[in-house]
Amino acid sequence: MPEYRTVLKVKDLPEESARVVEVDGKLVAIFHHAGKYFAIDDTCPHMGASLAEGYVEEGIVTCPWHAWRFRLEDGAWADNPRLKIGCYPVRVVGDEIQLAVECTENG
Ligand code: FES
Repeated sequence: MPEYRTVLKVKDLPEESARVVEVDGKLVAIFHHAGKYFAIDDTCPHMGASLAEGYVEEGIVTCPWHAWRFRLEDGAWADNPRLKIGCYPVRVVGDEIQLAVECTENG
């Protein structure tokens, strides 16, 4: 079972906004888009821009620096889905947004 942790309050992430949170030293971008919440790695694998600063349209965030595009639902690079960044389960409990950063085999 993934372990969920509260990372934001619902009121802190209005519709069509994004925030960066840090969990175990990992930067995760949380998006509120089209009525749903999504969480993917914040750091763009190209040159390290913050994807939370990107432009979101139709479930895809466009990196603010060089326009690589990633799907919010699974972290796949929209132009070459074999490349993926981390994607994490998000849920809302009461007024809290909770994130699960899954344990890996490395613990
Ligand atoms: S840093 Fe994201 S596309 Fe270059």
